[in-house]
Amino acid sequence: MNSNNDIDSTFPPDFLWGVATSAFQIEGAAAEDGKGRSIWDDFCRVPGAIVDGSNGDVACDHYHRWAADLDMIKGLGVDAYRFSISWPRVRPTGEGAWNEAGLAFYEKLVDGLIERGIKPCITLYHWDLPSALQAKGGWANRETVHRFVEYALEIGRRFGDRAESITTHNEPWIVATLGHETGTFAPGIKNRAMAAQVSHHLLLSHGLALQALRERGCKAQLGIVLNLSPTYPATDSAEDHKAAKVADAHLLRWYLDPIFHGRYPQEALDDLGADAPKVEPGDFALIGQKLDYLGINYYSRSVISAKGQWKAGSQGHALTDMGWEVYPQGLTELLLRLHRDYPGVPLYITENGAAFKDQITNGLVHDADRTRYIAEHIEAVAQAMKQGARIGGYMVWSLMDNFEWASGYEKRFGIVHVDYESQARHLKDSARWYRDFLKRQRMLRSGAAQPA
Ligand code: FCB
Repeated sequence: MNSNNDIDSTFPPDFLWGVATSAFQIEGAAAEDGKGRSIWDDFCRVPGAIVDGSNGDVACDHYHRWAADLDMIKGLGVDAYRFSISWPRVRPTGEGAWNEAGLAFYEKLVDGLIERGIKPCITLYHWDLPSALQAKGGWANRETVHRFVEYALEIGRRFGDRAESITTHNEPWIVATLGHETGTFAPGIKNRAMAAQVSHHLLLSHGLALQALRERGCKAQLGIVLNLSPTYPATDSAEDHKAAKVADAHLLRWYLDPIFHGRYPQEALDDLGADAPKVEPGDFALIGQKLDYLGINYYSRSVISAKGQWKAGSQGHALTDMGWEVYPQGLTELLLRLHRDYPGVPLYITENGAAFKDQITNGLVHDADRTRYIAEHIEAVAQAMKQGARIGGYMVWSLMDNFEWASGYEKRFGIVHVDYESQARHLKDSARWYRDFLKRQRMLRSGAAQPA
């Protein structure tokens, strides 16, 4: 890569390039056409929960602006668009009647993508549980697993023939740990044992949904998306190495080992002690359904110090506006590790991107930091592929600025700028770079289709 962020590697012709969003973060229309409430609608009302006191009521108003947004996506020249379905929009209380008006929105979206030559990649659960299910215990209640399977089957029945892929869960670690242990995300609970039980139910719902969708002959590729931040010890001391290993067991292996090896990692179980989840006989066999793909969301590395003294950036790596280190080599290392320890499944980077403070002047945003971040990470993917990892695609988080959960609208991850007053969208320099990069890839593809 040179100073213009030119990438020399040629990716395979069927490599899937995309952009990603999620329902709650962009749709708005929080109470329209029969949509039910979600735990994020509720959490936004908790004083102090969202930094800027905002909510998802309007967000990017994508529910009304979807057609223009799809044109914009097409203009970028991507192959695929990863979005999520709002469960309470299609089934307001999470059980009982389906909301046809809500389903009609996703019908338009999916058909609109296909008409534009873009592959729809659907995520079923990007954190917006129907509030009515939370009132019955939410993910801590094993019954919710069965409601999720019903939801998965309905989406599979309606969209399975047109979707490229159906992902069960986006980042179950966030749902379990931030939602139920630290309480910083919806539903805002602070209970470690409950968080562990929730993680087990999320995994179980994933496995049962995959099994049920396959039994019904669903044609879409089926998988899960995990946030896999690789863990490094802060120093070479034995205690930091041990702490990093335990952290890795909680974050990475906690979700991968049950799927691939039929068990939770012992280091994490030892650490949880009495807080370990209750696992019923047969659960691991259900969780361990074969994946068509594994989605990886990568933003940064985690550095672990036993005494908790590590400060991000203290080794000279740049920080994003989230305070996360820019560490592209971590992505190469992660992909190679997955290739080695969990072989046989195609890997997709389903999210990668960065928040930086943007300045918009006359509709232009010169976001050189973000462009560089994306280019370096695409290069990191190419490096992993050169060393043998099987990678099927890469998606930028995010198509456009949106509601960044507890950070509200203060953090901007988009390659497209959104003015929340006027809802105007403007391509940032990073979007123009990505578009031109994809154009060049297509040219290279049509010439010599050499793998990276
Ligand atoms: C991931 C989420 C996504 C977005 C990015 C920045 O954890 O999946 O919705 O918030 O982080």
